[in-house]
Amino acid sequence: MTEPQHILVTGGAGFIGSHAVDVLMRLGHCVTVFDNLSTGYLANLEQWEANPRFRFIHADIAADLTDAFNRAVLGFGRITRIAHFAAQTAVPLSMDDPVADIGANVTGLVRVLEYARRNKVAKVFFASSSAIYDDDAPVPVSETSSARPSSPYGINKLTGEFYLDYYARLNGLTFTALRFMNVYGPRQDPKSWYSGVISIFLDRAVTGQPITIFDDGEQTRDFVYVTDVAEAVTHALLTGAGHNAVINIGTGVEVTINTLARTILSLAGSASPVRHEPARAGDIRRSVTTMDQAEALLAFRPRVNLQAGLQATLTWLRQEKSRAPSRSGSAA
Ligand code: UD1
Repeated sequence: MTEPQHILVTGGAGFIGSHAVDVLMRLGHCVTVFDNLSTGYLANLEQWEANPRFRFIHADIAADLTDAFNRAVLGFGRITRIAHFAAQTAVPLSMDDPVADIGANVTGLVRVLEYARRNKVAKVFFASSSAIYDDDAPVPVSETSSARPSSPYGINKLTGEFYLDYYARLNGLTFTALRFMNVYGPRQDPKSWYSGVISIFLDRAVTGQPITIFDDGEQTRDFVYVTDVAEAVTHALLTGAGHNAVINIGTGVEVTINTLARTILSLAGSASPVRHEPARAGDIRRSVTTMDQAEALLAFRPRVNLQAGLQATLTWLRQEKSRAPSRSGSAA
């Protein structure tokens, strides 16, 4: 792509969204971020703060976005592409408050799609999730595996995919939806009880706190490094690849939680004790994706293996811990 674009990244201060912003800015595009800083951090974007091609707008996708869209256009002109990450991302919170989840995850997306339709936005990326699959679907899951979400979060992500398909068929919208497996890497926040397992284990390993493995630890996940995910997103967003398709993004490598814990403790040189607790309610036993669609439609091949990704995340975490004040200070 030669022409610089004006790209809107909703949720661009968050864990995955901010990595997509990094790629888009490095490619020379103008980027506007909408974020309500509920789980994102301005510190994730501080490297671009002073760049004239970058603009941050405090906006909540669950509320009216008219003013935010107007300000974005005043800044860099017509929005040509939208990467939509902004969401309520915690599965357990979606169970506690399903109505709020619809506001962020369904209404928020439809607001963005309506804007895209009215303003002839060339392409929309949507962050979907492996949470749309049936927990009992045989592994590896492919895009045609049974979709039967076990949470309002999963239901709303699947609903989002239906909206994309509807807008594509009736309004000519062009989109790519990526169903992420377990994404990890720098900027993932270990602080809440529903944080991703890698961020929790690394945090405990470097602080010497005990690591808790639920169940026998032989359950598996497909862990994909965040910069690989950001590459897949931006490739789909900026090109015709993944045209109106829904694609799983993972590595195809199935890793047990026991192996993960051992690898992290060894990498960190940590003596954190390992405790076992009963299985967490609702946990699935195995999760891993096929790679066929990602390879065929996006030419996607993860570049960062688990060992390298964990090492890079560990290095980041140590830097964060030595930084003052902590990045958590910049959250709204
Ligand atoms: C996440 C969601 C889950 C949802 C799934 C759908 C949470 C807490 N979990 O789970 O509700 O169905 O996505 O894609 O939001 N683990 C430990 N010790 C820990 C933390 C986790 O052993 O301290 C284990 C878990 O039991 C699980 C694995 O690590 O087997 C991964 O956990 P997590 O990172 O929370 O992700 P998912 O299980 O994929």
